[in-house]
Amino acid sequence: MSTADSTRTLTPEERAAELDIDQLKQLVGLVEYDESKDPFPVTAMDAVVFVVGNATQAAHFYQSAFGMELIAYAGPETGVRDHKAFVLRSGSARFVLKGGVTPESPLLDHHRQHGDGVVDLALEVRDVDACVAHARSQGATVIEEPHDVSDDHGTVRTAAIATYGETRHTLIDRSGYTGPYLPGYVARQSGYVKRDGAPKRLFQAIDHCVGNVELGKMDYWVNWYRKVMGFVNMAEFVGDDIATEYSALMSKVVANGNHRVKFPLNEPAVAKKKSQIDEYLEFYGSPGCQHIALATNDILRSVDQMRAEGVEFLDTPDAYYDDPELRERIGKVRVPIEELKKRGVLVDRDEDGYLLQIFTKPIGDRPTVFYELIERHGSLGFGKGNFKALFESIEREQERRGNL
Ligand SMILES: [Fe+2]
Repeated sequence: MSTADSTRTLTPEERAAELDIDQLKQLVGLVEYDESKDPFPVTAMDAVVFVVGNATQAAHFYQSAFGMELIAYAGPETGVRDHKAFVLRSGSARFVLKGGVTPESPLLDHHRQHGDGVVDLALEVRDVDACVAHARSQGATVIEEPHDVSDDHGTVRTAAIATYGETRHTLIDRSGYTGPYLPGYVARQSGYVKRDGAPKRLFQAIDHCVGNVELGKMDYWVNWYRKVMGFVNMAEFVGDDIATEYSALMSKVVANGNHRVKFPLNEPAVAKKKSQIDEYLEFYGSPGCQHIALATNDILRSVDQMRAEGVEFLDTPDAYYDDPELRERIGKVRVPIEELKKRGVLVDRDEDGYLLQIFTKPIGDRPTVFYELIERHGSLGFGKGNFKALFESIEREQERRGNL
């Protein structure tokens, strides 16, 4: 990709995070594409917005355990009566944590129903009106019509469309805006001090955000993303790919043209016991976002740091690493297998390269939302070779919760 293209491709957030196009290519597996034929060009993830039971404390957790930086805030002190919202950054990834303040806050109703979860996978676009017009013509539900929001820092153009469950995609053109997040938010720093020797950040970007939908609905949503947002199919995992002895699921991945934004969509499949997707749907109370994969360029360091801060990861049995077939399949990776084994980091290889990945346990009280750390080295995949080992690990946790 030429330098001129890079200037256009990189968002201001990415430039501010000192990322360049080659790093991003490796981190999230970017490919080249012709934006001029895209009916709904998406430039990046703008933010992942969560509703949580206690945003004040969650903001601390994401700083201490995920190494994120507090950058902005809105709440009663800034004229927002019913909720608090904390904005955190790590590289180009932005999380917004919202919690209800007054008993009447609709966020508390949402939380009662779903627990901590993702309400908005906000997307940065160049032309909000054109995207909404296309989405509407393809049958999407428009929750917020395109409109301007302004403050002293300028104006954003924004709108929102509904996706699975009670999740939305806010669309944002922030090219005319220089504030810390959105109008109404004030810049805010934290008194939180990282431990000596802690890395500057533990992840640089969002790689993918996975949605769990009901049995029989996966293809509906795959087609929805294709029609409404012009996304393309990337990969699919059905049948034996992702079945264990007990439970199964099906998964297809859609992505925007350059693969910067990737949304795998899962549905449960019929099997002997309850699938992890069924468990999610039962405890979340509806379809919703299952996990967010965070791209890191040093997964070992990130895992060590997060573990030291108390983050719990799924464990991987030693047998996974001792399997001669796996050793043969993955070949040479940048670190000794023993280092991966010590930490339970999984590895997978495909025709394009390899990836390292690991999954946290659910981070809230309900067995719903969790995180993945992913370090890509050429592979554009999702760790298909690890699904079986991963799902067996998830089933051991489900069993302990009495939900298998
Ligand atoms: Fe994933």
